Amino acid sequence: RLEPLVLGIETSCDETGVGIVRGDRLLANVIASSMDEHARYGGVVPEVAARAHLEAIEPTLAAAVAEAGIRLDDVDAIAVTTGPGLSGALMVGVGAAKALAVALEKPIYAVNHLVGHVGADVVSEEPLEYPTIALLVSGGHTSLLVVRDLVGDVELLGETIDDAAGEAFDKVARVLGLPYPGGPQIDRAAVGGDPKAIRFPRGLSLPKDMAKHRYDFSFSGLKTAVARWVEAETDAGREVPVADVAASFREAVVDVLLTKAFAACADLGIPRLLLGGGVVANARVREEAARRAAIAGVTLRIPPLSLCTDNGAMIAALGAQLVMAGREPSSLDFGADSTLPV
Ligand code: KG4
Ligand code: ZN
Repeated sequence: RLEPLVLGIETSCDETGVGIVRGDRLLANVIASSMDEHARYGGVVPEVAARAHLEAIEPTLAAAVAEAGIRLDDVDAIAVTTGPGLSGALMVGVGAAKALAVALEKPIYAVNHLVGHVGADVVSEEPLEYPTIALLVSGGHTSLLVVRDLVGDVELLGETIDDAAGEAFDKVARVLGLPYPGGPQIDRAAVGGDPKAIRFPRGLSLPKDMAKHRYDFSFSGLKTAVARWVEAETDAGREVPVADVAASFREAVVDVLLTKAFAACADLGIPRLLLGGGVVANARVREEAARRAAIAGVTLRIPPLSLCTDNGAMIAALGAQLVMAGREPSSLDFGADSTLPV
């Protein structure tokens, strides 16, 4: 079997990622993040992200080529995230990828960011079989997918109808006076807290919602409920029990994410679940996913964190699968598509 050398570029949000694979072997995965620049705004600022990508793309590319120990000329194909994501940010990666493809006279593959997250598993030691359910949770997306074939049959089962789960972590952290990004802060604050102290709402899990939104998520009501609860305590002159609030909030997010993911496994008769996205760093997500997987007889796969958060290696891995499946490359007239469907 031919093992194509593929370079992948990812710039859909605040990570500038360049990865290189040979077939399903990972050779390099270099990431530059502009996270720190967004911290004082409490969330990713699109213009700041785009500008940071412009500055980071060349050094990140050079670092990836050096890490892989290859010559750019040897690359067989370029893959790039074309969407979904922030338009200005995506455009930087798309522009860079096209420039490389033209200069090197190599084929280019425009790929979907969410499918890329699933592609991350290809370079792991023991890739999942298909079909599999995939739950992708980050600051920008919360999506549940069924993957029957990575390069041809990926279907969106559901997604958030308002905030992404990571966004909810970031907003609740702010309510509790914790810095950005909120996920790791809430994780830390929740240590020693009682996850049952406060029963926060599980969005879209009431029987009436489940009919229409069985696999969809909603986190804005939860965020508001936490803010109200904290406000009421403060107004009553009581000290806010930060650990209990953080633990109870985190429990509500984890519960609804995993309940729906495992429901999809059961409904579709698919005993495999892949997790991806930055929120998968969450200690409670990992622990509870493992517990429920053991009970349900589901094979659970959580790639290493460097392949869960946005990165170029997953895009390169997906590109290599497309090449090996004999897919036609993209014509050069594609652009950034911020709302690209799966
Ligand atoms: O995938 P990612 O690095 O970037 C995108 O958003 O695309 O994910 C970042 C998100 C942020 O919202 C951050 O708060 C969240 O992932 N996050 C966490 C944890 N670490 C990062 N959420 C919950 N628990 C964590 N430990
Ligand atoms: Zn992502």
